[in-house]
Amino acid sequence: MDYDLIITGGTVVTAADVFSADVGIKDGRIVAIAETLAGHAAEVIDATGKLVMPGGIDSHVHLAQDGAPGIVMGDDFETGTRSAIFGGNTTVMPFCLQKKGQSLRDALTDYDQRAAGNLYCDVSYHLIVSDPDPQLIGQDLPALIAAGFTSVKVFMTYEDLRLTDYEILNVMKTARKGGAVVMVHAEGIDAIRFLNEELEAAGKTAPRYHATSRPIPVEREATNRALSLAELTNAEVMVVHVSNAGAIEEIERARKRGVKVLSETCPQYLVLTEDDLEGDALEGSKFVCSPPPRDTTSQEACWEGLENGSFDVFSSDHCPYRYDESGKLTPEAKRGGYRWIPNGIPGIETRMPILFSEGVRKGRIDLQRFVALTSTNHAKAYGLFPRKGTIAIGADADIVIWDPDLEVTISQSELHHGCDYTPYEGLAVTGWPVTTIRRGVTVVRDRKLVADKGIGLYQTRVPSASAASDGS
Ligand code: URP
Ligand code: ZN
Ligand code: ZN
Repeated sequence: MDYDLIITGGTVVTAADVFSADVGIKDGRIVAIAETLAGHAAEVIDATGKLVMPGGIDSHVHLAQDGAPGIVMGDDFETGTRSAIFGGNTTVMPFCLQKKGQSLRDALTDYDQRAAGNLYCDVSYHLIVSDPDPQLIGQDLPALIAAGFTSVKVFMTYEDLRLTDYEILNVMKTARKGGAVVMVHAEGIDAIRFLNEELEAAGKTAPRYHATSRPIPVEREATNRALSLAELTNAEVMVVHVSNAGAIEEIERARKRGVKVLSETCPQYLVLTEDDLEGDALEGSKFVCSPPPRDTTSQEACWEGLENGSFDVFSSDHCPYRYDESGKLTPEAKRGGYRWIPNGIPGIETRMPILFSEGVRKGRIDLQRFVALTSTNHAKAYGLFPRKGTIAIGADADIVIWDPDLEVTISQSELHHGCDYTPYEGLAVTGWPVTTIRRGVTVVRDRKLVADKGIGLYQTRVPSASAASDGS
């Protein structure tokens, strides 16, 4: 047999090109791309009228992540990767969270156990550093970066996760030496604490005040500070979940100074606003995430950033909590208000359709940019390229076959995550993934699951040349 699979008759899209071609797959890899492929194949998929694109890489997702006592994340590795693959993704990058007092290696063992045998797509972890003691900074983190864990997330807010500037500088220095990217959650904890006290004193505790407590200056100031710390250490940073023009301006200004900065935005900053947090009683909690969705001016700024290259990647920041006592409706949230609502919303399955419909179909971005923002640039930023993130000879056969004309109204009843709601309920989109192939195995065919869990693999990565460079 010449091929295990031929995808025939489709329009191939990469971050650089759009062309008609057949794609031949053998042993999990792409082995041929030609106008017409002859030869024997065990299986042929007719993709006439469809787009054939690199499988999505969602490089910002939270699965089976530990939270405050009593709170359970709405997705484990099984349901999260199942939802991901239905959404056209072939690789996701969840976080491995170090708890205070825990070693990074022990945290990795925990997450490996949670993932083992449960993956529908490939995964690779970012390390969340919450306790950067001298052992972590001097020994553990350098060793793990060298072993292929080439991205680290630091938080500037959340009591249990935030690092001081001094600690962030040390993480950045270690990352820079090893060639790792530092992902930064840029919101200032002191400003939020100050605003929380004011709001609480005024009795303003409904979910909508979550947005009031984290206004644009809170994000803009922290973004500026994070980028100044990056400038001091020459570290490469990824500013994640950017929500507004003020933060984008800080990123562009830092780039002009030569700071090595990548940036990310997410669907919630394109199609939700802080008005969604209004709702009755705790309904608004379904939209509580940080930074919060803002207004239509900020939405436009994020679109501009996607169009003009300010943003490198478009991720979901899938962080699901169910709308029940295990998640959004904890007794503390019911009693105490927005400060106790777990932050985060689901979106792993709807990320690509929302960008395709609102971006490509509405003429804001072209197909190549869509592929760059949803797949190729993630692979490049985090050391998976060219094995993943493109359609090329030798690359993993991670492919999504996309119906550009399929009209879908997003609805919880049609999604495959473990969460019990979607913040995008009722949003009408045009364009949807119909078949997802991961390393040559068809996992979803014509929107039906056709493979068992356990077929995803952990992906080790290489240090990034740009992260290790001195920036000159
Ligand atoms: O609200 C959010 N984004 N929760 C997820 C955790 C994070 O900060 O990424
Ligand atoms: Zn974050
Ligand atoms: Zn996140």
